[in-house]
Amino acid sequence: MPSFVITGVSRGIGYEFLRQYSSDPQNIVVGLVRNKAETDKKVSEDADLKTRSNLHILQADVTDYDALKAAAAETAKITGGGLDYLIANAGYISPIDAVVPIGELFVSLPLGSGSQLTESSADRPEEVSKTMRDLFEVNVLGQIHLFHLFTPLILKGGAKKVILVGSGFADIDFTNKWDMFPGALYSISKVAANMVVAKFNAQYKGDGVLFLSVAPGTVDVGQYAHLTEEEQQKMGAMAAKFMAHAPHFAGPDTPEHAVGLMREVIANASIEKGNGGDFVSQFGNRQWL
Ligand SMILES: NC(=O)c1ccc[n+]([C@@H]2O[C@H](COP(=O)([O-])OP(=O)(O)OC[C@H]3O[C@@H](n4cnc5c(N)ncnc54)[C@H](OP(=O)(O)O)[C@@H]3O)[C@@H](O)[C@H]2O)c1
Repeated sequence: MPSFVITGVSRGIGYEFLRQYSSDPQNIVVGLVRNKAETDKKVSEDADLKTRSNLHILQADVTDYDALKAAAAETAKITGGGLDYLIANAGYISPIDAVVPIGELFVSLPLGSGSQLTESSADRPEEVSKTMRDLFEVNVLGQIHLFHLFTPLILKGGAKKVILVGSGFADIDFTNKWDMFPGALYSISKVAANMVVAKFNAQYKGDGVLFLSVAPGTVDVGQYAHLTEEEQQKMGAMAAKFMAHAPHFAGPDTPEHAVGLMREVIANASIEKGNGGDFVSQFGNRQWL
């Protein structure tokens, strides 16, 4: 029975991975979350998921090494010791830099719901520094710990695939060609996360383990629901650039469709095809939208 561990399944893209992979009763699917009680409740109220006995929810914040270690031990008990697929989906998407260029983070009131900055705290670097540290904790260090702790299980598995949910914003060429200023701090963390993938690939490719970063495209997980008028204008300008990059772009994708595309990329990718350590989109190439 193919086994999967997916991080960050409480909502968004992670929940959709949980839904799709567990729809096959042959799969064993373990979802990691920060709040198990909340996700257990959500699953129990989900008409599709509530009867699936192949689905297991474990508690682990990816910044908590001991919790990840305990989750790896618990996963081994569930699967019988090995693991086929690790989907490193959990990520921190910082609100303060969502639509503001990097220089403006320091001098103007950042946009993006959830920012704790107020007018009086503008022109102060503290929240920029804190946000960058938080991004590294979750999106970089968290993934290093996760990969380190679950690779022994993967080595005992059949498929031997470790997938990071990356971001097209981590593509430096895309950033330069289209002046993609939004998400600066977040993008920096996702570039570093891709290097985590590459370094693990460098060590474990010889053991037959595929490490690959796959971006989902732009996916509506509710992040556009409470935008102010000004934020909407900035998003509109970004969408115009998206359309220049990909003329077919008609707005954010649904989690269902995006995860379907990513699953295809994950299924088809292999070390033999040269995918080890690579960074690709939901189309399996460098077209991000
Ligand atoms: N949506 C997009 O357009 C898009 C585009 C490119 C890349 N991505 C990537 O896709 C992945 C999923 O994002 P999403 O769009 O589904 O966003 P989301 O709805 O905000 O989900 C983020 C998930 O990560 C979890 N998480 C955050 N910090 C965590 C931590 N310290 N430990 C464990 N879990 C943690 C969250 O759990 P809680 O519920 O506990 O907060 C939540 O389940 C991320 O890696 C993101 O960078 C998304």
